[in-house]
Amino acid sequence: MSYGMTLEQMQAELEARLKPSRFRHSLGVSETAVKLSHRFGVDEEKARVAGLLHDCAREFRNEAMVEEAEKRGIAIGEVERSMPLLLHADIGAVRVREIYGVEDPAISQAIARHTVGGAQMTPLDKIIWYADMIEPNRDFPGVDKLRELAKTASLDEMMLAGLSHSIIFVVKKGHLVHPATVLARNEILLGQMKRKDAEAEQAKKAKKED
Ligand SMILES: [Fe+2]
Ligand SMILES: [Fe+2]
Repeated sequence: MSYGMTLEQMQAELEARLKPSRFRHSLGVSETAVKLSHRFGVDEEKARVAGLLHDCAREFRNEAMVEEAEKRGIAIGEVERSMPLLLHADIGAVRVREIYGVEDPAISQAIARHTVGGAQMTPLDKIIWYADMIEPNRDFPGVDKLRELAKTASLDEMMLAGLSHSIIFVVKKGHLVHPATVLARNEILLGQMKRKDAEAEQAKKAKKED
């Protein structure tokens, strides 16, 4: 798919708008997302662009963030109202089109969900969410374990570990937990439980037929 800009132009535009550490982080997420896209059969180009631009609305401060969201008719829930920084995900999902000419709804969705997650996350949504957490510049207790998982575990196992880590972190800090994060985790966990039940059922049947 072609975009309104080349990748080099996107990078130059992003670099001009973000502080250096945030730009480096964006490059890290992009590279990590590309690696994960190979492991999980996700479109490499979408992963590269979504990873690069996921924080493209991160430069606004709290009040400006609310203003930018309102300007675009983005719904501001109670949790976002109390933590306006969260809005950079939804604003970014619109800004990729406005500034970078990226019209791909799958990329916009992955950007919209990169912070708090959401229901029925696609593999692209998941790898951007996860890459944001483990890119090489990230440094927090537990990050190495999450990086290891990214080499061996299934995408859902990775997400479960990542989402659990994120929820525990937020709770320990005394912050609100976004319902979308709980929803994402419950959904993946329920899916896993159902699969295990089905497997057990299958094994039982096979035993009977023996
Ligand atoms: Fe972000
Ligand atoms: Fe990020």
